[in-house]
Amino acid sequence: MTADTTGDMTADMAAAGPDVPLLEAVGLRRGYPLPRTSLTGRRARREAVRDVSLRVEEGAALGIVGESGAGKSTLVRLLLALDRPDAGTVRYRGREVRPGRPSSLRWFRREAQIVLQDPMSSLDPRMTVARAVAEPLRALGVAGDRAATAARVAEVLTAVGLEPEMGRRYPHEFSGGQRQRIAIARALAPRPRILVGDEPVSALDVSVRAQVLDLLARLAATEGLTLIVVSHDLGVVRHLCDQVLILHEGAVAEHGPTARVLTDPAHPYTRRLLDAVPRLPV
Ligand SMILES: Nc1ncnc2c1ncn2[C@@H]1O[C@H](COP(=O)(O)OP(=O)(O)O)[C@@H](O)[C@H]1O
Ligand SMILES: [Mg+2]
Repeated sequence: MTADTTGDMTADMAAAGPDVPLLEAVGLRRGYPLPRTSLTGRRARREAVRDVSLRVEEGAALGIVGESGAGKSTLVRLLLALDRPDAGTVRYRGREVRPGRPSSLRWFRREAQIVLQDPMSSLDPRMTVARAVAEPLRALGVAGDRAATAARVAEVLTAVGLEPEMGRRYPHEFSGGQRQRIAIARALAPRPRILVGDEPVSALDVSVRAQVLDLLARLAATEGLTLIVVSHDLGVVRHLCDQVLILHEGAVAEHGPTARVLTDPAHPYTRRLLDAVPRLPV
C-alpha cells in the first residue's frame, strides 16, 4: 500500500467500529433497458437486481446461488463497484464505494479482487503468465521494483500450486484447471482482503472442480481472505461457504447459515434448487 490512502483507510476503519461489516450493500437496484418493441412506446426495463441488501463479515465465506439470469453477476459487479447501481449503496468497512474515476477507487481495487468463470477472458494470450500475474500490481501501483514484483509473482504461483518457472510460459500451454489457478494467482497478487469467484469452476472439467474449490478454501484459511463464491449450483457452495444467499429473479429469496438453508429451506425456490443437487449433505 502507498502512504496516500493508507492514512485515510486506517482512520475510516477506526471510525467504523467493531460491528461494521467488511462489506455491506443496502437496497441495491440495477435494471437494463429491454429492446424497443415499438418506435413510440417507452422503453421497458428488466430489473436484474431488485432491492438487495446483504452483509459480509470479515473472514466469512458467502455463497450467492441462483439459476442462470437470476442477477448474480450483476450483483457482484455492483458489490465490487464495477457497475453503478440505479439505487442503493455499497460500503466497505463502513466507507462508501461507488464507481467513478479509476484513481478514486484504487484503494478498493486492492481490497477486493474477482476471478471469472472463463480464465481465458482475463488472460491475454500474448502475455506470459508472469506478466499477467504482475499486471494488477502495476495497475494498482503496488508493484515495487522488478525484484519485488518477481518475488511476489513466484509467491502467488506457488500458493496456487504452480511452479514459479511456469511464469515464463503462455496461457495456451496450460490446462483449464491450471489457467484458473493462474487467474486466482493474479487476483491474489495485490493482497486483497476479499476474493470473489463468479462461477469460478463452472467452465472446468468436473474432474478438476473439487481441486480448485479446495484451493479457494485453503487460500481463504491461509491468507485470511473473505470469500464470495457465485454459482448456479448449490453443490459448489455447500462445502466452501458458511453463509448462503439465494437469489431469485434479482431478489434475495433467503440468506442464512449454509447448514440451516440446506437442511431447512424457508423458500420454495431454495427447495427446488436443492432438488437439483444430486446428493444431500449432512
Ligand atoms: N449488460 C446487460 N445488458 C442487458 N441486460 C443484461 C446485461 N447484463 C445482464 N442482463 C440481464 O440481467 C439479468 C441478470 O443477468 P446476470 O446478472 O448475468 O445473471 P446471472 O449471473 O445470475 O446469470 C438477465 O436477464 C440478463 O439478461
Ligand atoms: Mg453470471
